[in-house]
Amino acid sequence: MKVLVVGGAGYIGSHMVKLLLRAGHVVVTLDSLVTGYRDAVVGGEFVQCDLADRAGLDEVFKQHAFDGVMHFASFIQVGESVLKPDLYYRNNFCNTLNLLDAMVAHGVKRFIFSSTAAVFGEPDYVPIDEAHPAHPINPYGISKWMVEQALADYDKAYGLKAICLRYFNAAGADPEGELGERHDPETHLIPLVLQAASGRRPEIAVFGRDYDTPDGTCIRDYVHVMDLCQAHLQALAALAAGGKSDAFNLGNGNGFSVQEVIDAARRVSGRNISVKDATRRSGDPARLVANSERAKSVLGWKPEFADLDVIVEHAWNWEIKMNANPQVEG
Ligand code: UFG
Repeated sequence: MKVLVVGGAGYIGSHMVKLLLRAGHVVVTLDSLVTGYRDAVVGGEFVQCDLADRAGLDEVFKQHAFDGVMHFASFIQVGESVLKPDLYYRNNFCNTLNLLDAMVAHGVKRFIFSSTAAVFGEPDYVPIDEAHPAHPINPYGISKWMVEQALADYDKAYGLKAICLRYFNAAGADPEGELGERHDPETHLIPLVLQAASGRRPEIAVFGRDYDTPDGTCIRDYVHVMDLCQAHLQALAALAAGGKSDAFNLGNGNGFSVQEVIDAARRVSGRNISVKDATRRSGDPARLVANSERAKSVLGWKPEFADLDVIVEHAWNWEIKMNANPQVEG
């Protein structure tokens, strides 16, 4: 198939481009390079274009007959979304409508959307399945939920079939060491802990030890970036086989606390890691764990790298590479 990967120069999108090429698909990457890296796109055609540029999008759709579109491009910082909601609603919602409208105008009917566990807000229960109500609590989560709702209406009106994949905590790196996470600023736990292990940071701050969890630190469901990409391949295949629009929660169903992640990082790296206790970060639920049974039964998804130490090991290999080549950090 010929696939347009929007945001293919970013963390998850770049892994997706690699997996699609390996699976024999033809890939065109579209990225504004506002947060992505051109050198993270390992093959296929590359187009630099912002989703705000509707004419630029039309040009790309005129030049290629796509079988499907995967959309990874978005702003992802929860805290920033509270301070600058306009950025999040415009980029994550309005600009996504530009992409959907271009698809409708050019007759492209298959869409895979990077959604998030943040659409659920403070959970009513865990593990969180797809029946759990969506009640996002910040503009980031709301912007993603708005797209999910718009997609349901685009299906009814225009027959655009979409699968929304709600990632829990995307983590890890390309097992071959070619790609990894390069956020600037970095806010995610695993890369930050590993930067503390490699010496790029002096320490890791633990945001709260007074949660209602066994060791008092927050519990998250870390899911390997390549397993997320594998789910996209299966979602696209499901739509190509005539499947209906749907949404799936993607995680391993195992929760690990912040302290357990730090312990895993010490084990994997063999380094000492300085830890500083800090106050809670606002908006952090105590526990977010996915129930991904539907992705398994409907899509046939089977995570290959579910072990936390393996996820941390792949991220550590990338951190070592970044530390040795700081010029590629951007
Ligand atoms: N944490 C620390 N210290 C740090 C960074 C994080 O203790 O320096 C803690 C956080 O408080 C949280 C856990 O580590 O309890 C994980 O934090 P991350 O920032 O790595 O991930 P989040 O769970 O906050 O965020 C993820 C995605 C978001 C998404 C959110 C909710 O990265 O995009 O899940 O689904 F919105």
